[in-house]
Parts: sequence; structure tokens; C-alpha cells
Amino acid sequence: MQRFDVIIIGSGLAGFSAALSLADHKKVLLLTKKQLLDGASNWAQGGIAGVMASDDSVEDHVRDTLIAGAGLCHEDAVRFVVENGHAAIEWLLEKGVPFSHDETHPEELHLTREGGHSKRRVVHAADATGAAIQDTLQKSVLSHPNITVLENHIAIDLITAGKLGFAEQRCLGVYALNTQDNQVKTFAAPFTILATGGAGKVYLYTTNPDVATGDGVAMAWRAGCRVANMEFIQFHPTCLYHPHAKSFLITEAVRGEGGLLRLPDGKRFMPEHDERAELAPRDVVARAIDFEMKKRGLDCVYLDITHKSAEFLYHHFPTIMQRCRELGIDITRDPIPVVPAAHYSCGGVMTDLAARTDIPGLYAVGEVASTGLHGANRLASNSLLECIVFGQAAAKDILQQDSKPLPPLPEWDESRVTDADEEIVISHNWSELRRFMWDYVGIVRTNKRLERALHRIQLLGEEICEYYNHFRVSNDLIELRNLVVTADLIVRSAMQRHESRGLHYSKDYPEKAENAVDTILQGPYAPPCHKDG
Ligand code: FAD
Ligand code: SIN
Repeated sequence: MQRFDVIIIGSGLAGFSAALSLADHKKVLLLTKKQLLDGASNWAQGGIAGVMASDDSVEDHVRDTLIAGAGLCHEDAVRFVVENGHAAIEWLLEKGVPFSHDETHPEELHLTREGGHSKRRVVHAADATGAAIQDTLQKSVLSHPNITVLENHIAIDLITAGKLGFAEQRCLGVYALNTQDNQVKTFAAPFTILATGGAGKVYLYTTNPDVATGDGVAMAWRAGCRVANMEFIQFHPTCLYHPHAKSFLITEAVRGEGGLLRLPDGKRFMPEHDERAELAPRDVVARAIDFEMKKRGLDCVYLDITHKSAEFLYHHFPTIMQRCRELGIDITRDPIPVVPAAHYSCGGVMTDLAARTDIPGLYAVGEVASTGLHGANRLASNSLLECIVFGQAAAKDILQQDSKPLPPLPEWDESRVTDADEEIVISHNWSELRRFMWDYVGIVRTNKRLERALHRIQLLGEEICEYYNHFRVSNDLIELRNLVVTADLIVRSAMQRHESRGLHYSKDYPEKAENAVDTILQGPYAPPCHKDG
């Protein structure tokens, strides 16, 4: 058993922010299941929102966030994040993040615009903001003597006092599989932070990286935490549509800088759907594209930015320009083929303003958490900001507490399992899950589709659980077990919401209810594959 002061699971911006805010005072273990930079944070394109311009204000940013959230945001969380936004961006600047500067006023940061923002307030590093941030912070993380980084370690389950039979519930640590030597290790700490990111891989088409398999939500759920608002999956309107492009986003900043959505015959369609046209919030744009594609039997629609100069496009969107060129699309001349794809999980593990979950000693920050900031639909570029503000808030809360002594923790028990006989079970179930989630629990939902999905989840859950109980764990098995729990939580949440609001649209309940109420799931019901290691 290895002991630390704090265990952080996940090396995205949420994990990095928490680690760097703790490490001067605490011994921190940073576990990550692949390489340090494998995560959505490193892929973020558009930027990070914050009140930086003289014509902008906290009130404006708060209002835009509340409008996008369709009545379900918690205003205290919104204010907390927005009020700390400027300081978060200053923190990144102090760390040396090379944000883009304005061409005419080079002493000022360039601010871009995205859907739902009434002002230019998105700070960015061309169209590769996440990589610029993560590259810079990675250096500080790796050079800090108090941070131990373990790559290729996938957390399997949290170890809680409740599971060990103690009367007082608290989080004591985590079991993690070293995927290089296939050994399960026991890590103990009085404080654990989940920073495991999102769950886009639950859907067939997603902008997310492979690591986004809902592990944190599933682990927290199995440990007894409440989860909220899981039905609100944000579908990004513009993912590149090309047979050789796996999960490549075309940033919303392209629309922010004037990009227009067109049908194959060149006709614009967004003005017919919303007066804000291409700059309407994402749920509106994604639903409009879905509607046009289904109505006309289209494979994709087109994002046209050809009216801007090649120099402008190269300056603002070099990554997109290059990736499209590799695939034979010249964005200075050709409209870009795009489709919506699962992008962001607005719900997650319920936390308070100090990032505390229901279990003492367990925190959740970043996309894994449901802080109340996003409500029924996240405003673009508020996510990176949330990672920093809540990563720092979790650290502050931990630094104010005494560390209680830890009991000895049992080692992982492998006495009743053998090596897996057929890996095909895992890959088959994985594909099946992602496909029916896409078909039945996508942008437009119905009661019948949700029932069908739930039925299949139950069958898959039983099969995966049986497999899990008989065979040694592997990376893919751990992820699949978590994906099926996450899918179950999404579908059950969607079934509880008898209205259409924000990202959740049901043909059976097309109206918005008068009162906005969070969907909060808490046992008892046996989620798929509940048995622990
Ligand atoms: P991540 O950055 O995804 O990190 C999660 C980490 O947890 C990874 O290191 C992963 O390996 C690790 N992990 C997961 N499970 C386990 C486990 N079981 N054991 C160990 N480690 C584990 N938001 C914005 O605000 N602005 C943008 O411009 C923007 N652009 C985006 C573009 C793309 C293509 C995508 C996919 C998202 C974008 N978002 C953007 C959303 C934003 O990037 C994410 O919500 C945010 O980066 C999440 O950060 P995170 O630290 O919570 O998770
Ligand atoms: C984008 O660049 O379009 C993504 C921004 C976000 O998800 O906040």
C-alpha cells in the first residue's frame, strides 16, 4: 500500500489545476490512465471564457451562462466561476501560457466569440488552446518535487470506509491497475480528487478522446455518491465529417468569426431556426442540423468560411486548416463537411462550491462533476474555466482540513478470477452500447427509444458483470464496465425528465415545464455490475 496526502485521478486541466494548487503543501499522487496529455483538455480548441474586455462585465457573463443553461443553472455556482474567471486566466498567464494577442493592439489578448456569448470574451491560443495550456502546466507538474506522476495507471474503484465496514463513511484511497505490468496496486490517502473528465465514448460519434469513458462518475456512483443531470449530453454541432477523420472538432470560433452553415446547395438554414442564426447556443444549432439532415436525408451539412482571407484563416485556425488539408479539404475554397457529435457531459457527480462530493474526503472537479454551472446546456468555453476554478477550490478546502490517520487497506483480491478467455465479448459489447446510445439516446429522444436503450443496457450490464466477476481486470474491461453504468445513468435521468429543456429534447414531452428541477439519482437500485473488486 502506498500512502500520499492527496490522490488526484486524472491529468487534464482539472487534475493539473488541483495538483499545482496543493503541491507546495502536500504530497500529491497524480494517476492517469494513459499518457499525461491524453485527455479532452489537450484537445480544447476554441478557448477559455473570462471577463477581460472593458465593454464586458461579470453580470453579462453570468447572464449568458444562465440563458444557455435554460433555467437549470445554480446561480451561486455561476457567479462563483465567473467572478473567479479573470483570476484564473491571469494564473495561466503567470504560468506562461502563450495566448494569442490582438493584431491591431498587440499588448492586449485577442478575444474571440462563440455561440451564446453576447460579448467577445474567449481567450485562446489560435485554435489549439488546450494544447497550449496543458503543455505549459505539464512542465510545472513534472518539475514539482511533491507531485508523483504515474502514467498508465487506471483507477478501478474507490476504497471507502463504508465498504470496509467502518461506521463513519469517508474515502480512503483507490485501487488502480498498472496497464504495463497488469498488477493492481492499492493507494491510500485521506483526500481523493476525481478529475477523470467526460463520457463521450458512450456514443458512437464523439469529439472526445478515447479516455473519456465516464470512469469517475461510475466509480463515485458505485461508492454511493449522488449524480445529477446526466441526461444533458451536449452535442457539438460541428465535428468534421470525413471517413478518415476520427473525432476532429471544427471549433465554434469558426462560426464566431463569421462561418456560415449551409445545405449542400449552398443555402443557409440557421436563420430559419433561430434569430441568433449560427451564433445560437449549441443545443439549438445541433438540433437544427439534425433536423435538416433527417428531413433531407443528408450525411452532413457544410460550414463555410471561404469569404475570409487565407491569411486570416491561417492566423486564426492553423490546426483546422492543416488537418483539413491533409484530408483534401482546402478551407479557403471549400465549405467544411460537418455533423453533430457527442461533446460534453453537463451532469456528473454532485458537488458543492468547494468541489466536495457526498463522501467525506472525496472531491470531484472538471467535467466529471455536476457543480450547477452548466444547467441544461453548457455555454461554450466555460468548461476549461470551471476546471481551474473548482480545481483550486478543492485544493483550498483540503488545505484547510486536518488529515485523519488511515487504517490499513486490504489488497486487491484476485483469488477467484482467472485470465479472460474471449476478448471479443468486450469489443462486441462496447460497439453495441455505443451504437444504440447514438440511435436511441441522441439529440432527439422518445419514451420508446429510451425504454429500448434501458432494456439493452440491462442485458449488457449482466453480461459485463458476469465477465468482470470471473476474469482478471484489463483496461478495456474496466472502461466498458464504467461505460455501461454511465449509459444507465444517462437513460434513467432522461426517463425522469418529462419535459424538453436545453440539451434534453423529447418528442413525447416537447414543452418546457414551468419549474426547472435537477434530476438527481441516488440508489437504491442495482446499477449494472455493482459488485466490487
Ligand atoms: P480531461 O481533460 O478529459 O482529463 C481527464 C483525465 O482523467 C485524463 O488524463 C484521463 O486519462 C484521466 N482518467 C480518466 N479515467 C481515469 C481512470 N479511471 N484512471 C486514471 N485516469 C483516468 N472546453 C472549453 O472550455 N473550451 C474549449 O475550447 C473546448 N474545446 C474542446 C474541444 C474538444 C475536441 C473537446 C473534446 C472538448 C472541448 N472542451 C472545451 C471541453 C473541455 O476540453 C473539457 O470539458 C475539459 O478539458 C475537461 O477537463 P478535465 O480535466 O475534466 O478532463
Ligand atoms: C469549440 O472550440 O467549439 C469547443 C468549445 C467548447 O467546447 O467550449
